[in-house]
Amino acid sequence: MAKLVIDGQEAELPDGAAIMDSAETLGVPFGCQAGQCATCVIIVEEGMENLAPKNAAEEDMGLRDNERLACQATIRSGTVKATW
Ligand code: FES
Repeated sequence: MAKLVIDGQEAELPDGAAIMDSAETLGVPFGCQAGQCATCVIIVEEGMENLAPKNAAEEDMGLRDNERLACQATIRSGTVKATW
């Protein structure tokens, strides 16, 4: 199991899972859910290496190095701590 921590609240999710549902449960707002609007940008504080590499939608968004789209990112394993 992997763990997503958003602003101190935690959710467990399977290794390899998309983080969207867990992030939504932890309060991250979503819009398009398709990598187009940037509503769901999170700032990763720890564990960026535990997320799979950015996909094409995230690359096209021009995110900072510590930012990810919660509607697109998947967790490999371990713990990711973020804020939004
Ligand atoms: S919800 Fe629109 S980019 Fe993630």
